[in-house]
Amino acid sequence: MTKAFELPDKVAIVTGAGSGIGEASAQVLAGAGARVVVADLDLDNATRVAEQIDKDGGRALARRVDVADPASVTELVTGTVTEFGRLDIQVNNAGIMLRRPVLEISPEEFDQVLSVNLKGQLYGSQAAARVMEPGSSIVNTLSTIIDFSTAGTGSYAASKKGGEALIRTFAVELGPRGIRVNGVAPGWTESGITRGRHVNERGEFQQESFDQLAAKMTAVSPLGTVAEPIDSAYAVLYLASPAGRLLTGHVIRVNGGASMT
Ligand SMILES: NC(=O)c1ccc[n+]([C@@H]2O[C@H](COP(=O)([O-])OP(=O)(O)OC[C@H]3O[C@@H](n4cnc5c(N)ncnc54)[C@H](O)[C@@H]3O)[C@@H](O)[C@H]2O)c1
Repeated sequence: MTKAFELPDKVAIVTGAGSGIGEASAQVLAGAGARVVVADLDLDNATRVAEQIDKDGGRALARRVDVADPASVTELVTGTVTEFGRLDIQVNNAGIMLRRPVLEISPEEFDQVLSVNLKGQLYGSQAAARVMEPGSSIVNTLSTIIDFSTAGTGSYAASKKGGEALIRTFAVELGPRGIRVNGVAPGWTESGITRGRHVNERGEFQQESFDQLAAKMTAVSPLGTVAEPIDSAYAVLYLASPAGRLLTGHVIRVNGGASMT
């Protein structure tokens, strides 16, 4: 029965796969048998992840992509089809975070966050859907921010809430073609984004302030824990695999129940 979670002969692209949740997702999809294109703005990190997958017995290719650039995203998808002959799974995961009070966000900053987080998911879903066959799956990374508000997250929240709306519209329009579109909304997770907030002006990581925030985020979860990248990666696998064949337009919240508090 667990065969429904296996991905033999499937081809997957994961964006933002050079770090954190995308890296774990690429590893899990490869572990389930998919050939994975590890795509990131940072080609060095993507290469490191792809090489590790190969060492672990999987099959992966590293590619540079800027998800905010539709031409770059199209090139990634068409290049994948040229290389592997098909595309079955698209994980639009790349994202950035800007912490700024709403009264201080500049038009350029707002545009930048929406370009990567929201338009990146639009371009990725469009390019993938154009080449996908029935049975394919698109998974977009959202955030627990879709369920509540915290100060300083205006542009990020707008991008992720917009992403949730986009998922539903894509799901409705692509359903008749047999393509499913879903989201994973991680809770607070140790990754490049969350660690990046605790680097001082000299570039030094501030472990103490990081641990304090981790403790605060742990306290808001009924399960009393924060997420690890692998937790969201397992949700990605479920949504990408035949096991999730009846899910579309759905968002799995991987946050220890934090959305309820
Ligand atoms: N870490 C958390 O607490 C958390 C919580 C909820 C949602 N998320 C979401 O998870 C996703 C992954 O983030 P993460 O936490 O793993 O952070 P991360 O910083 O570890 O990984 C993000 C990756 O995206 C890449 N990236 C950034 N801009 C890009 C672009 N324009 N084109 C291609 N790649 C680009 C970065 O190089 C990086 O490798 C994001 O969408 C983020 O919003 C994270």
